[in-house]
Amino acid sequence: MIQETDLLYFKNWFEMYVKQFCTGNERIDSAICLKVTHTKNVALEILGLANSLNLDAEHCYLAEIVAIFHDIGRFEQYLRYHTYSDQKSEDHAKLGLEVIASTGVISRLPLYEQELVRNVVAHHNRASLPQGDDQKFLLLLKLLRDADKIDILRVVTEHYAGFSRNEAINIGLPDTPEISDEIVNSILNCTLAKVQDIKTINDFKLLQVGWIFDLNFPRTYQIFKQRCYLDKLSAALPQTVNVIQAIDSARRFLMRKCTIERSVHECQIP
Ligand SMILES: [Fe+2]
Repeated sequence: MIQETDLLYFKNWFEMYVKQFCTGNERIDSAICLKVTHTKNVALEILGLANSLNLDAEHCYLAEIVAIFHDIGRFEQYLRYHTYSDQKSEDHAKLGLEVIASTGVISRLPLYEQELVRNVVAHHNRASLPQGDDQKFLLLLKLLRDADKIDILRVVTEHYAGFSRNEAINIGLPDTPEISDEIVNSILNCTLAKVQDIKTINDFKLLQVGWIFDLNFPRTYQIFKQRCYLDKLSAALPQTVNVIQAIDSARRFLMRKCTIERSVHECQIP
């Protein structure tokens, strides 16, 4: 049985672990701080999603624990390669598994939960959900993927709007006007775009628009709508015909999802 003391232990461990990556160099420290804050926010967002599903206390603790560890490989990644681009360095989820193994930090958990945490970290940044019949694993993975997207969009939309700028966010992409047809077509087909097709910052922004097609829970759709993420991404993109069509496609999808969830909810009211 996972206890609140386990969660507190991991939160304290995280604080101690990340301290070693702060150097006094402003550029490095702000990149590290970006991921420290992101991790803490993902832990808050995942708890909000877990509560919206009325999950029990143990599921909520586990959800926060996977959030704490999901990007634990980011700090080693930045230290070794000075980038958050997996393409230009290595898979940060794999690096995270190495950190978890070398520190032994999760050894206080029962064996099944240790495997659960490792599997969720390993799959959190994959293009799609894995097949499998472990419902607890799939639930935690879906919660994490949604919470991760919610907070990444907070970070990038603040950056695109010109406040809280941090160059580590652009992962070294050129800020040129080109937009990849493959990415636009993915959005028009209501599918997730491929990371390999990203060539410019505009492509990266459109890929983030397409995250709308990879969400799992009603509350996540509501948050996307309430926080105006599509409007904010749209405002950061050139208003070309294909961009406008892609944003419209994503917006219609979001409205449909929010309407369906609202009518399901209304039907449940006695
Ligand atoms: Fe990640």
